Amino acid sequence: MTDFPLRTSRRGLLVGAAALATAPAAALASTEAEPLHAADAPIEDAARLSDRISPFGPHQAGVTTPRPANGMIASFHVLADSPADLERLFQRLTDRIVVLTKGGPVPEVDPKLPPTDSGILGPVLTPDALTVTVGLGASLFEDRPWLQPAKPRALVRMTQFRNDALIADLSHGDLVIQFCANTQDTVIHALRDIVKSIPDQLVLKWAQAGSVPVIAPPPGAPPESARNFLGFRDGSANPNSADPSLMDQVVWVGPENDESGWATGGSYMAVRIIRNNVERWDRTPLLEQERIFGRTKVTGAPLDQPHGTEAMVPDFKADPHGKITPLDSHIRMANPRTPESRANLILRRPFNYVNGVLKNGQLDQGLLFICWQADLEKGFITVQRRLDGEPLEEYVKPVGGGYFFALPGFADGQQDYLGRTLIASLSPTSQDSSQSGPSTHQVQD
Ligand code: HEM
Repeated sequence: MTDFPLRTSRRGLLVGAAALATAPAAALASTEAEPLHAADAPIEDAARLSDRISPFGPHQAGVTTPRPANGMIASFHVLADSPADLERLFQRLTDRIVVLTKGGPVPEVDPKLPPTDSGILGPVLTPDALTVTVGLGASLFEDRPWLQPAKPRALVRMTQFRNDALIADLSHGDLVIQFCANTQDTVIHALRDIVKSIPDQLVLKWAQAGSVPVIAPPPGAPPESARNFLGFRDGSANPNSADPSLMDQVVWVGPENDESGWATGGSYMAVRIIRNNVERWDRTPLLEQERIFGRTKVTGAPLDQPHGTEAMVPDFKADPHGKITPLDSHIRMANPRTPESRANLILRRPFNYVNGVLKNGQLDQGLLFICWQADLEKGFITVQRRLDGEPLEEYVKPVGGGYFFALPGFADGQQDYLGRTLIASLSPTSQDSSQSGPSTHQVQD
């Protein structure tokens, strides 16, 4: 079987101009030859407050763009009773996204009025590689008869898997926003801005912040996946996020996905707040930890090539009984690497989270798992079903999250806004305009 083009097979790959155009300056600064990929670790001293990621293009930013060191998922109830209300909400969101990702001086107002900005970034906003990615939950469509026909085909409310203990207050939502930026202050500032700007239409339901460790690789060394809170490299086998045609197959909704025309260029987003029992993990023997994942802890190399690198592809066919890589190891269950399992590829772009201490005295730490796919059922849901019963379950507990559909991207200019094709699809006279996406592509300012 020829293996699929993994993130790790990109070594030596010529990266197209389009991929370079979507990468923040911090990512490009990391190595001359290779841009960072979705789940690579951010590089020490490479990030700048002036890094700017354009929000414009056929797809929203924050999905295949390299992940900066900080992120947050915020889920909202939506107050919108008509297409006109929803359009207004989308236009207001678009306005704020454009302002926040561009940066610049905060407008001054009469001091007798509340300031226009929280001020936590000072009088001049810095873009700081901010991306703001908006998704819609099944409840937004299901609770509004006029919106029901437009619901993306595979969008459902997240149901409980066998190891889940979902907490209602940390789950689902009508609308979700993923904020990512170099620094945590920029993420918090953007959330505060949106909460303040749209109080009559968005009510915050839950939010979970996270981060990924910044690394300092030796000069010339290839990028590495960031480590999660179980100490393993996470993202090694991601599909190559710098390969636009692969991303068209794996991540972005296209004509072959049997969705309404308005959804073209969007993506399904699965979010899971997964608590890690780190105390128990830290007392588990190294060899057992490695067998649970199927990779070595220090380098991330597959167990059948223990002196290799995380870039190497395991050969499960040569180990049919799982003597080297256990059949129930995380990587083998998540991706058995059969011709059939190629249809279940997902792009993972998670963050680690720390929430202090649980009532029982244990550390409340874990993974803010976020993955992207063109088909939710074939992607996350199938992979999670395969993982049900894996030995890793003894150490992890999913407690929240939800499924969302990230809207297609939008073009620079007065005529376009986030969600325009959805709104146009609601009016029978505007069917044609709902089919066409924005004409510009993401470019770095
Ligand atoms: C706390 C929970 C989790 C942890 C700590 C974790 C950790 C890891 C690690 C260390 C790897 C190996 C390196 C890599 O390729 O990234 C991996 C691979 C992978 N994980 Fe997870 N993971 C978790 C949850 C999930 C979930 C919920 C899913 C999807 C349902 C998932 C899907 C995958 C996939 C598809 C791979 C790549 C397998 C391959 O192609 O070799 N993981 N994960």
